Amino acid sequence: MGDIEAHESRLYSDFAPLYDKVFGKIFYSRLERVIEGLEIPRGARVLEVGAGTGTSFPAYPTHCEVTGIDLAPDMLARARQKIRENGWSHLKVIEMNALDLEFPENSFDYVMAFHVVTVVPDPIRMIEEAKRVCKPGGRIVIVNHFTSDFPLLGSFTQALDPITRWLGWRTDLKLKPFIEMTDLTVEKVYKLSKTSLYTVLLGIKQKNGFHFTREL
Ligand SMILES: C[S@@+](CC[C@H](N)C(=O)[O-])C[C@H]1O[C@@H](n2cnc3c(N)ncnc32)[C@H](O)[C@@H]1O
Repeated sequence: MGDIEAHESRLYSDFAPLYDKVFGKIFYSRLERVIEGLEIPRGARVLEVGAGTGTSFPAYPTHCEVTGIDLAPDMLARARQKIRENGWSHLKVIEMNALDLEFPENSFDYVMAFHVVTVVPDPIRMIEEAKRVCKPGGRIVIVNHFTSDFPLLGSFTQALDPITRWLGWRTDLKLKPFIEMTDLTVEKVYKLSKTSLYTVLLGIKQKNGFHFTREL
C-alpha cells in the first residue's frame, strides 16, 4: 500500500512524548478496564493495531503474547522504551500499516483497535484486515469515540471535524453506519459509564464467517 494511505499527522509523528503525557494517562484507565474484562487466556495471541506509544501495554496479562503495530516511528520508539524499561518479554512492536497487515490470515485470538478507527484514512479497510488476521472464534475489540446520534451533540462534534482532522482524527464517524459498512459481527456494544464519550465494540469471528448477535 502506497504512502498516500499512510497517516501523516504531525500529532503522531512529531509529538509522541506530548501524546503520552496528555492522552496516555486519560486513555489508560479505560483501556485497562476493557482489557481486564476480556479475561484473555494463557497463551493467547493478541494484535493491537495503531498501538502508538503503548498506552494499553501495562494492562495486558504477561501470560499472553502481544504484538503492537503502528505507522509512526516516534510513537513506536516510546513503546519500545516502555517494553525495555519494564522487561515485558510478552510484548513487541513492529512498524506496519494497519490497512495492509503483513500477517497471514487466522493468526490472532484478539485484534485490538483502541482510538484508531477515526485516525486511519480507511476504517473499513482496517476492519477487513483485522477480520482477515483474526482466527475463527477470535475477537475484534474496538474502543473509540463515535459521533452521537443525538442531533445537538452530533452536530457539535461534526462541526469540530475540520479542526480535529488537522490534528489527526475525525469526529464524523457514526456507530451504526460504521458497523454496517464494515459488516462487523458485534457480540456486544457498551460504554464504561453513562457519560463516557467512548464506545466499546466487541466483535467475534465465527467459524462460518461473521455472525451477528448485536445489542445496539
Ligand atoms: C489516537 S492514537 C492511539 C494510540 C493508542 N492506541 C492509544 O490508545 O493510546 C492513533 C494511532 O494510530 C496510528 N495510525 C494512524 N494510521 C495508521 C495506520 N494506517 N497504520 C497503523 N497505525 C496507524 C497513529 O500513528 C497513532 O499512533
